[in-house]
Amino acid sequence: MDIVLNKITKRYKRDKREFTVLDDVSITLPHGKFTVISGDSGVGKSTLLNIVAGLSRPTAGKVYYGEKEITSLGDEDLSELRTGFMGVMTQNCELIPYLTLSENLKLAYDISVKSSEKNSFSEEESSAGATSFAAELLDALGLSHLQNEYPSSLSSGEIKRAAIARTLIARPELVIMDEPTANLDRKNVRAVLKLLRKYSFEGTTVIISSHEKEAIEEADYNFELNFSEN
Ligand SMILES: Nc1ncnc2c1ncn2[C@@H]1O[C@H](COP(=O)(O)OP(=O)(O)OP(=O)(O)O)[C@@H](O)[C@H]1O
Ligand SMILES: [Mg+2]
Repeated sequence: MDIVLNKITKRYKRDKREFTVLDDVSITLPHGKFTVISGDSGVGKSTLLNIVAGLSRPTAGKVYYGEKEITSLGDEDLSELRTGFMGVMTQNCELIPYLTLSENLKLAYDISVKSSEKNSFSEEESSAGATSFAAELLDALGLSHLQNEYPSSLSSGEIKRAAIARTLIARPELVIMDEPTANLDRKNVRAVLKLLRKYSFEGTTVIISSHEKEAIEEADYNFELNFSEN
C-alpha cells in the first residue's frame, strides 16, 4: 500500500498573518521502501510528516493510504489507525518519565497489540517474543545496559534511541520518524540507519525526515522540500 499525498498545502498563522509552508506538494511514498524527507530547517519536514501520520490536517489536499483517504477520517479513526499499524516518532521523542526504558517499551507494545486485531507475535510466543524482540532492539541501539533506567537519567541521544526502540517495538507496518538521527554521533547514526534499512528490507514502509547525507544515501528515495514563495 503506497501512501499518496495529493496537492497538499499547509498554511499557518503567525501574528495574524498567514503563511504557506507546504505549497501543493504531491508525492508518493512507496510501500516497503525507505524514504527520506530532507530540506533546510523550517522548510516543513515535521509539518509534512505530521500530516502523513494524521497528527495534523492539511489546509488543502488529500492523503491516501492505498485506496483509503485518511484526511477525511475523524480523530478517533485516525488514532485507531495509528495505534494499530503505525509507529510514529515526533521530533520531541517523549518517553513516559515514571517508567523505566524497558517499561516504556512494554507499554508501547501492550497498547499497540491490544488495540490491534493483528498481533505481531503468535499467542503462545507473545510475551516471550516481545521480550526477546525488545532485547534485540535495545542491543542494536546500544541501550541494553540502560534498560532499567528512567528517562531523567538518560542523555538526549540515549532518549532519542530509546524513542526509536519504542516506535519499533510492536513491529509496525508503517514507520514515520521525525529526525531519528539528529544529535547522534556517527556510530549511532549508522546503527539507527542500519536498523531502519533492515526493517524496510523486511517489508516495512519507513519514512523519516533528516538533514543527514548518510540517511539520504541509505534510503531508497529522497524527497527534498524547498521553501515556498508565499
Ligand atoms: N503550529 C504552528 N503554528 C505556526 N507556525 C508553525 C507551526 N508549526 C510549524 N510552524 C512553522 O512552519 C515552518 C515549518 O516548520 P516545521 O517544523 O515543519 O519545519 P522543519 O522542516 O521540520 O524544521 P526543522 O528541521 O528545524 O525541524 C516553520 O517556519 C515553523 O516556524
Ligand atoms: Mg522538524
